[in-house]
Amino acid sequence: MTAKPRLVISSGAGISAESGISTFRDAGGLWEQYPVMDVASADGFARNPALVHRFYNERRADLGKARPNRAHEILHELEEDFDVYVITQNVDDLHERAGSTKVLHLHGELMKVRAVDNPSLLFPVGYDTCTTPDTVIEGHKVRPHIVFFQEAVPMFEPATEIAGSADIFVIVGTSLAVYPAAGLLHYVRAGVPVYYIDPRPSPVPAGVTVIPLPATEGMAELARILLKDRR
Ligand code: OAD
Repeated sequence: MTAKPRLVISSGAGISAESGISTFRDAGGLWEQYPVMDVASADGFARNPALVHRFYNERRADLGKARPNRAHEILHELEEDFDVYVITQNVDDLHERAGSTKVLHLHGELMKVRAVDNPSLLFPVGYDTCTTPDTVIEGHKVRPHIVFFQEAVPMFEPATEIAGSADIFVIVGTSLAVYPAAGLLHYVRAGVPVYYIDPRPSPVPAGVTVIPLPATEGMAELARILLKDRR
């Protein structure tokens, strides 16, 4: 039996948009409603931690009402024919809930909080969990398990290795505005086919096949292209 080709997906907020989760930079997106440096930066958290806890409590509650969409499901189904790795900038759990087995979260996870005094100590939380700066779990004050602006991105290096091992690389639903995540494309080996699914795609290097559709339609189109060559 020959090994399955490795399909690496780099996903952003757009893949969850059709599940009802707001993106950040689209019209009406989260960063139009909330000042990003207040709710999602290290300085903002130091200035007003209660506001930051509240912001992520709301995101978690919204996530509890959302369901994976067809794009998340297709990615799971592609595991039958491909060795699929998902590298996501998203902090939601919709890839996991759709059944994807290999998911790396570059920017943290809503469904975990971590000890303020020990970043490696993670605690799972529920969709209705509300934390505050005074919340103590197992003797530790906690904070959202989110990579704030002005903080390092510890999962970036493992992500570059996965990107470098891709036989096919797919970018979906991201404005490619935030680094280092946007730079993952540069770790993909020369000659590897690269696709970019997004209804309002940002400029990408020549050679990238752009599928200018919403994620659900774009993933269906991608699956048709990939499976035609495979079966
Ligand atoms: P953005 O909000 O910057 O970009 C969302 C992208 O999704 C845009 O390119 C849209 O065109 C696209 N989009 C909208 N609807 C779509 C749909 N139905 N199907 C597919 N694509 C759609 O979100 P990200 O690029 O994910 O980080 O943002 C990157 C990071 O910036 C986030 O992880 C977050 C944010 O600040 C942190 O908070 C650390």
